[in-house]
Amino acid sequence: MIPDSPLSLSESVIGLAVVTWVCLKAKERLELSFAKNPSLGGHVRWSKRFASQIPSYSYDETQWFGCDDAPQTVQDTRRQALSALGQDLVGQSPITLAHTEKAKPMISDLQFTSNYRVPFQFKSVILKHIQMGAFWRASDGVWLTDMDGNRFMDVTGSYGVNLFGLDFYKSNIAEGGELASDLGPSLGSFHPCVLDNVERLCRLSGKDEVSFHMSGTEAVMQAVRLARYHTGRKKIVRFTGAYHGWWDDVQPGPGNPMPPATHTLTLREMHESTLRVLKNRTDIACVLINPLQALHPNQAAPTDSTLVDGSRCAHYDREAYTNWLKALRAVCTEKGIVLIFDEVFLGFRLARGGAQEYFGIQADMVTYGKTLGGGLPVGVICGKAELMRRFNPSRPADICFARGTFKEHPYVMGAMNVFLKRLDSPEVLALYANLDQCWDSRAEKLNESLKAHNLPIQVAHMSSVWTILYDSPTRFNWLLQYYMRREGIALSWVGSGRLIFSLNYGEHEFEEFSRRLILATQKMMSDGWFWKAEAQTNKSIRRGIFKELLRARFAS
Ligand SMILES: Cc1ncc(COP(=O)(O)O)c(C=O)c1O
Repeated sequence: MIPDSPLSLSESVIGLAVVTWVCLKAKERLELSFAKNPSLGGHVRWSKRFASQIPSYSYDETQWFGCDDAPQTVQDTRRQALSALGQDLVGQSPITLAHTEKAKPMISDLQFTSNYRVPFQFKSVILKHIQMGAFWRASDGVWLTDMDGNRFMDVTGSYGVNLFGLDFYKSNIAEGGELASDLGPSLGSFHPCVLDNVERLCRLSGKDEVSFHMSGTEAVMQAVRLARYHTGRKKIVRFTGAYHGWWDDVQPGPGNPMPPATHTLTLREMHESTLRVLKNRTDIACVLINPLQALHPNQAAPTDSTLVDGSRCAHYDREAYTNWLKALRAVCTEKGIVLIFDEVFLGFRLARGGAQEYFGIQADMVTYGKTLGGGLPVGVICGKAELMRRFNPSRPADICFARGTFKEHPYVMGAMNVFLKRLDSPEVLALYANLDQCWDSRAEKLNESLKAHNLPIQVAHMSSVWTILYDSPTRFNWLLQYYMRREGIALSWVGSGRLIFSLNYGEHEFEEFSRRLILATQKMMSDGWFWKAEAQTNKSIRRGIFKELLRARFAS
């Protein structure tokens, strides 16, 4: 027998190093898995796979009204109600609807939004019976006027741009245009007002430097690029469900035809396991926070196209979210990770100094957009000087490139200048005083009223951003958006999941809004849409849909 040859010292060291490396990698992998939200949204690869397998099927007219096994009498009431709703909407706005239908075949986005207003099984019947106008002719106060002259209460919020009321932005644009008119659209250098803009922005954000871009998406892109450039690390962390624009790296799941970016980690918000990952890894360049997620952590924006039952939930806890941001701030500081507050949506809405001021936390970089353009398109980054520099003084060819033809457009800069100056006006400062108390008490009052009327909806909110929740485990909750439209309330295409109030909603306007919402819900209730069988639950609805999906997927 030949005796086993003993391992040489160098072989043992290599062996030990390999085992240690494998163990460390396994630990890192395990920690990452624990830091993923257990939902599909937390597993972007799986959610993409799952989304690609969802078959298309739709309910025909017979299945549609009775998909929850409602008795025939209820189905008949619903059938008549849907037809009446469709006729009322056409009767109300014939010109607007004709215009919309004419434009639809030529506007890709309009085709997309009309197809994604309701759960897809219901779509074909809805499109047959109900049309929604997509054109407005005018605005004043909290009102939008369609092409037929009908006035609707505006809670679309213009995707968040409309913070102070559309009249405010109209005059910003007019005054900003006047300011810039001598120079005109001359690009490449700056209108003199840009100096005032950057001084104000540096003061407001508590940062040293500013860069201008043409949209929020581009501002986020550049903030992430700078974080990578200065840290020399590649990975970015975003949180489950958070929107940061439509650029590949921050939108790694369904909706993006590219495979999920390998350098993006989608982690669980408000969870200890995420802090562990940030603490133990050495390859993370930045963490992106969208503070709007505080209303529904780890969930995507609540759209009515996914409202298949009554399980939508949202709850804003300011203290818990503040503690979370503090913990994130501490770990990012400790590990040299760039903390980016993406305030494109919420900037200036929670407080004059934005989410940083409101939560009492300073980020390393902040992105703004939407309302900051004073009504015109914009994206802005404010950041610490050492993170904003786009070149390396000791390596002349090592640069972090960013351009954009229309950045610092004089008219946009003019409107922004008027906006920023107005932030300091007594009227605007008065709006910020007691902002939370104002919207908290409005929400509380409305919820009491909804309860008193025995209606199966409630609202949840974060300041002036609201969402409608459904107490009722029923299948037609998404129909409320159409009932609201008939009562003269304008929602954006995502429906009842996102109501954005402008701060020019006074008590009187809010009372009127509440009255209309209650009326819409009452009518929807008496039309039988909230009917449910004793045994029906959110779970049973989802189980039923899952079975339908399987049947459709494997049919034929
Ligand atoms: C938080 C956040 N970041 C970025 C963006 C993208 O901004 P834009 O639509 O101007 O590209 C949005 C848009 O809704 C947003 O809400």
